[in-house]
Amino acid sequence: MMLEKLAGTRDRVLDGARLAEGETLLDVGCGEGLIAFGALERGAEHVVFADISEDLLSFCRDTADALGLAERCSFVQAGADELEGVADASVDVLATRSVLIYVAAKQRAFEEFFRVLRPGGRIAIWEPINSFGLEERMRDAFWSFPGNGLTDLAERVRRVFEEIQPPDDPMLDFDERDLIRFAEEAGFYPIELELKAEIRPTEPIAWHVFANSSGNPKIPTFAEAMDVALTPAERERVTEHLRPLVEEGKGVWRMAHALLKATKP
Ligand SMILES: C[S@@+](CC[C@H](N)C(=O)[O-])C[C@H]1O[C@@H](n2cnc3c(N)ncnc32)[C@H](O)[C@@H]1O
Repeated sequence: MMLEKLAGTRDRVLDGARLAEGETLLDVGCGEGLIAFGALERGAEHVVFADISEDLLSFCRDTADALGLAERCSFVQAGADELEGVADASVDVLATRSVLIYVAAKQRAFEEFFRVLRPGGRIAIWEPINSFGLEERMRDAFWSFPGNGLTDLAERVRRVFEEIQPPDDPMLDFDERDLIRFAEEAGFYPIELELKAEIRPTEPIAWHVFANSSGNPKIPTFAEAMDVALTPAERERVTEHLRPLVEEGKGVWRMAHALLKATKP
């Protein structure tokens, strides 16, 4: 189900990498294999699944076995910035989606990508640009919802998130220009980047869904952050104020992502 939802991104990454039949692809931070299995479907001769998580690698191994694809797959437990176990100049294409957001040493990761690609090999990297709109999210009460007299409470809740995930966290500490720079400094040429940035009204959602979800796996839910920062009476005031705004979609949504495509000369 999740794989279906993400099929559009998978296709953009594989198209961006110009994967051809018979090639070898390395999926860095493969997770459940969104990109890797897509590459096998498109006729890649061999796919290397790499991830830091042993559990996710064994999930992919089991899936490959079940699909009768095991002979065309190999599995490497490695971080994006230390691709030990992947030989120099051994892959035609390196693809990755939503992984650099977890990597502090991003320049080093690009150097590793360069090392494992054969000359003429391509990278396609899709990443959310979470620093887009960060300033506005920090400035505006309750990120994007009007604060109406509750800005001090909003600020206390915001600080809970900021302490756990400060602006220099790997998820927030880069933008699309950094990606271009990392690629160029690693030696890639030519380089192309597509950016999609959106500012629009938030989708109306049920309050309990909003309160019990979190922006990313590292941070608490909104309800948990309120529990830490506010008294029960304050929580009630915030809930009363925010609930209709959330349920009517009265916030401002800011989001961007980038697709970087580059070649090792
Ligand atoms: C959001 S998931 C994306 C999974 C997959 N690329 C996809 O498109 O569905 C992030 C993945 O990156 C992996 N990961 C996290 N830190 C990593 C690192 N430093 N190096 C390599 N993979 C990492 C996680 O284990 C997880 O599988």
